[in-house]
Amino acid sequence: MGRGALFGFLKKTTTSFVGSAASPAQFPKDGLPEVAFLGRSNVGKSSLLNALTGAHGLARVSATPGRTRLVNFFRVGDLLYLADLPGYGYARVPDAEHSGWETLITSYLLGRAPLALCVFLVDLRHQPGQGDEMLRAFLLEHALPWVLVGTKADKLGRAEVARQKKALLQGIGTGARTVMTASAETGAGMDELWRVVRQAALDRREGVA
Ligand code: GTP
Ligand code: MG
Repeated sequence: MGRGALFGFLKKTTTSFVGSAASPAQFPKDGLPEVAFLGRSNVGKSSLLNALTGAHGLARVSATPGRTRLVNFFRVGDLLYLADLPGYGYARVPDAEHSGWETLITSYLLGRAPLALCVFLVDLRHQPGQGDEMLRAFLLEHALPWVLVGTKADKLGRAEVARQKKALLQGIGTGARTVMTASAETGAGMDELWRVVRQAALDRREGVA
């Protein structure tokens, strides 16, 4: 499918915010496949989700890191839910709140039957941190399907993007289904990401994965 067809599909498909969950009891119950956005605070999860659906302003983008404290669910037509998870690793958040987030993220990832794919984001400009290493280990340990996306590609030159992508492939992205780069700002990488997200949802619905 070409770029035009992919975005054509999204334009015709309504994405809507369905709600925020503070605990598993509040997660959607209809069994539609889900794709989760994970990564450290400020990496660009909400921005990428907005850019992917073309629905700007749908997921709240942080002026201050650590904004997304709940699991926010967005429904894309009758195809899937996108789940915007709280970011980890924001230093100014009290420890007690940190462990609350960890519990929420962990209970989501381990208890979520409709989970079709995890989209793990890292900032292309920075070395992966301890939280990133922990998330990768967790995804591998529990055999969860995941892809790695290097974000904010617009902040680097083309050669530097290629260099960083190679580093991701050999490092934090080892074990991912695929490693890609993207920019919520320019839309770069969005068609590839949407193809992967959509396919994961379709495979789940057909019982392939
Ligand atoms: P939390 O909800 O706190 O975990 O953050 P988040 O991962 O959802 O990040 P968010 O989307 O709120 O973006 C954080 C900051 O990075 C905002 O100032 C965004 O405008 C900026 N940003 C996000 N994506 C991009 C991108 O692709 N390019 C550029 N230049 N800036 C970006
Ligand atoms: Mg966010």
